[in-house]
Amino acid sequence: MAWRGFRIAVPELRRKRHKSHSYNRYSNGAWRAVRDLRDFSERLPLAQKAAIILFLLASGGIIALGTFFWFLGRTADDSRFEVLAARQRMLVQEMYTYALGARIEEPGIEDRLLSIINEFDSSLWSFEMGGGALGVHIPPALPEFHPALMRIKRTWVRLRGPLLLLAEEPGNTPELRGAFKAAQRGLPQLAAGTTGLAALFEERKQRLRANMLTVLFSICFMNLMFVVAALRFTKRQIAAPIAEVTQAARSFQTGNFSARVRVRAKNELAELAETFNRMAANVAWLVARVQASEARFRGLFENVPDGVCKTTTEGRITAANPALLSMLGLEKEEDLFLDTLNSYVAGQAKTPKEESFPGAAQTRNLELQLRRTDGRTITALANTCAVRDESNNIIGYQTTLTDISDRKDLEQQLRQSQKMEAVGRLAGGVAHDFNNLLTVILGYSEFALEALAKDDPVRDSITEISGAAKRAERLTQQLLAFSRKQVARAAVLDLNSVIHGMETMLRRLIGEHIQLHLALYPNLWPIYADHGQMEQVVMNLALNARDAMPAGGVLRIETANVYLDESTIGQNSLQLEPGPCVTLSVADDGSGMTDEVLSHLFEPFFSTKEKGKGTGMGLSMVYGIVRQSGGDVRVGSQPGMGSVFQIILKRAGCVDTSSLSEPEETSPGQAHGETILLVEDEAGVRQFAAEALRRRGFNVLEATDGREGLRTFERHRAEIDLVLTDVVMPAMTGRELAQIMRAKDPSV
Ligand SMILES: Nc1ncnc2c1ncn2[C@@H]1O[C@H](COP(=O)(O)OP(=O)(O)OP(=O)(O)O)[C@@H](O)[C@H]1O
Ligand SMILES: [Mg+2]
Repeated sequence: MAWRGFRIAVPELRRKRHKSHSYNRYSNGAWRAVRDLRDFSERLPLAQKAAIILFLLASGGIIALGTFFWFLGRTADDSRFEVLAARQRMLVQEMYTYALGARIEEPGIEDRLLSIINEFDSSLWSFEMGGGALGVHIPPALPEFHPALMRIKRTWVRLRGPLLLLAEEPGNTPELRGAFKAAQRGLPQLAAGTTGLAALFEERKQRLRANMLTVLFSICFMNLMFVVAALRFTKRQIAAPIAEVTQAARSFQTGNFSARVRVRAKNELAELAETFNRMAANVAWLVARVQASEARFRGLFENVPDGVCKTTTEGRITAANPALLSMLGLEKEEDLFLDTLNSYVAGQAKTPKEESFPGAAQTRNLELQLRRTDGRTITALANTCAVRDESNNIIGYQTTLTDISDRKDLEQQLRQSQKMEAVGRLAGGVAHDFNNLLTVILGYSEFALEALAKDDPVRDSITEISGAAKRAERLTQQLLAFSRKQVARAAVLDLNSVIHGMETMLRRLIGEHIQLHLALYPNLWPIYADHGQMEQVVMNLALNARDAMPAGGVLRIETANVYLDESTIGQNSLQLEPGPCVTLSVADDGSGMTDEVLSHLFEPFFSTKEKGKGTGMGLSMVYGIVRQSGGDVRVGSQPGMGSVFQIILKRAGCVDTSSLSEPEETSPGQAHGETILLVEDEAGVRQFAAEALRRRGFNVLEATDGREGLRTFERHRAEIDLVLTDVVMPAMTGRELAQIMRAKDPSV
């Protein structure tokens, strides 16, 4: 019950323990008793505690009732005693009256006096033994009245004889007078005795009443205390713990998973509290796990580079990750919520397997064009799977979108560069063979012209042949430039001075309707390239710009120093290493180009110009020259917005010069019988070269390939002054041949 009170009292007891020996013992005993009682009570089940309290309350009530009735009984008895004593007093009065009458011999008095004496006798007897007398029924008087009774009895013993005498023989005899005198003396004494007795009863009755009130009040108070204690018990041991569990459960419900209940006693409610705490701990652990797992998956959803979204069965978007938002050019997830995924799909989905999107339960690598909010289109791969409920009905879709635009661009660029490489190889091969044939045609045309008389009618025809062959040679030179097989005379040069040198010629070339703006960076780094080739590049770009601006415009030529970094290289997919570079930009505000034109731009013979106006070799040459010089070209253009071509070349000192062959100095002149070993697999060229050398006075030894050349060299080692060999030959290259010969004779 009110154990808290005890807890406060106990230290108090302990503190006073040393005051006295007896107190010490008492306090020890009391402390132990309290502790035992407390322990016992804490171990008691609630039902038993409640039963004990009810029992105590009921007993209190019964005791109170019993006491009340006992008091009632006692006071009733005392009232009857009092009545009897009063009746005795009346009898004594009567006796006195009759005693007087007997002395004056009043007739008929004796019977009445006798009956009064008997009545007094029996009433006196009743006081002692209990029973009925004078119409009153009483129990025996309590011992406390015995002294008063004895006094009455003693008086009565003295009076009874004289009174009987007076009753039996009334008259005026000396005995009778003596008896009357005795009665006269004794009767007032008897009356006083009975009065005193009645007063005693009255007094006791009053006392009893007062006691009864005190006892009843005490019992009521005690019961009141019991009720208070029972209320406190119910509040502390039942209501408070239940309220605490309810409170904890409520706070748990609102998400405070750390809410726990204090476990006080060892009863059923403590068990409830412990069970609640265990459950709370389990739930908190589970919630923490769910939260951690949710955070993990949310992180995945938020950070995955692919766009992920959930849609309803109608395709409406209900959730989207940041990657999808940036893919579509949106900022907030809410911007998507009213849209369907299909509203972002541009054109028809491209897939052989799936007929529609996103209605199909599952799509794999469906290629889509998505329209961004800024109008751009991106290519994405969509993978969709259906989300189902317990009954396997489709309730929505989950779609992953991978942006493959960059990959597509790279693939396109790779295809383009592979195409250029293949076309270059083809063009180079054709040009090389073609050049050999042209060398023969031009050479023999020259021999024929030398041999013919000035007025020979065939002469004109041969001149025409020679002229056509020269034009064809220019074309093959361009093809060779594109295929990077042109012989370049590379040197360290200042690109600005190349452009300055061309300025007058350029102005004349582009005409007056086009303005030329030069913005040449003053401290431009030097480059390593062929001067003539660079002029060809500028010229071709300027001519193209002119052709793109038939109604006039501005042609801007700019140079600049730049530091090329990885990201620029990656973004423009340039075939360059990072490092310092020089750029040459040629920009016009002419017609611009469509994507279709841009995709074929550098191909040889690609031209949009009408027949006879363009060969389509200009840009292929530019491309070949720039690549041969270790640089790259990038183009920016849109129809109607003009074009800009940017040539990027390495700063001199940073360039690999192996692709730029050294210039070969040749000096024509007359020979004096020196012997040349000529190694050439192409018969026509070999014959023409041998003829030409012989005409200049050389002795020529001919060999059709490297092996034969080597054999001839062995045989005529002493005579040979010079070895002239083709480089590209079957079986053995010219370079290998030269190495073997040098090994045998270092003077070659
Ligand atoms: N600045 C430019 N503006 C617009 N289109 C251009 C520009 N430069 C090149 N082109 C387009 O690229 C095509 C190929 O150009 P390229 O210089 O290779 O050949 P061409 O100019 O047609 O012929 P060629 O230069 O041999 O006389 C051109 O026909 C033209 O359509
Ligand atoms: Mg051109």
